[in-house]
Amino acid sequence: MAEIIDGKAIAGQIQEEVNREVKELEKAGVTPGLAVILVGNNPASVSYVRMKEKACKELGIVSFRYDLPADTPEEELLGLIRKLAQTPEVHGILVQLPLPDGLSQERVLEAIPPEKDVDGLHPFNVGKLLEGAPTFVPCTPAGIQELLVRSGNSPEGKHVVVMGRSNIVGKPLAALLMQKRRGANATVTVCHSRTSDLAAITRLADILVAAVGVPRFVTADMIRPGCVVIDVGVNRVEDPTVERGYRLVGDVDFDGVSQIAKAITPVPGGVGPMTIAMLMRNTVLAARRQM
Ligand code: GUN
Repeated sequence: MAEIIDGKAIAGQIQEEVNREVKELEKAGVTPGLAVILVGNNPASVSYVRMKEKACKELGIVSFRYDLPADTPEEELLGLIRKLAQTPEVHGILVQLPLPDGLSQERVLEAIPPEKDVDGLHPFNVGKLLEGAPTFVPCTPAGIQELLVRSGNSPEGKHVVVMGRSNIVGKPLAALLMQKRRGANATVTVCHSRTSDLAAITRLADILVAAVGVPRFVTADMIRPGCVVIDVGVNRVEDPTVERGYRLVGDVDFDGVSQIAKAITPVPGGVGPMTIAMLMRNTVLAARRQM
């Protein structure tokens, strides 16, 4: 049976570190502030935004929340971002993704000033990461790296297979783990929905990261015994036996894969809490850089 990598506990350690930094900033007269913009009411997004606000409150970071209707004109959203860009109490700006149809993710992300882009998704920050001089690293990739290092499964010299090529997870994670620096130095393979003979590649992984968005997609036959498995998926599947009517499952078939993996992250309680902890860390970093 695989060791369970406790993302909640590791995120707790990071939040304690962040909390200490918040207290130091307070002494210097600065309270870190994070603006979170939610457009529409996608249930998963509503839940993520709530968790981000809760984490801010626990750590002494001020959160400014903006809920906009799904039919908000793009100009109005861009106007709000421009206003927050000029607000000194707001050190970080996050627009929850995905955006409703009709809004350009590209234009919206580019409106956030790079120095307040705590999500690390502005093209400037993406470019800096690729260059090897990261500024703000996207939260989920940064969280996965911390999870690996702090659980004693450093990616150094290892073959990491990333399943998924999204701008939020797959692409920046590949860039991050191939960096020539401590806690990285991995050999990275990225595969995706058009990869032929996917299992032949995933079976070569020392560390497998599943970010495909398909419930229980990764099965035991797709991994090598001893592999470390990181499950980024958060999928709602119907479950009439529970009150809310659904259950969260990852992209990995946990029951099967945990029989042969060396270590595995659970869903929930794996990558999710790490993403939030890294957002808090980036917000404090932003505040410090803006002093
Ligand atoms: N939606 C899912 N993950 C993320 C994330 O890391 N940042 C933002 N802004 N939206 C998301």
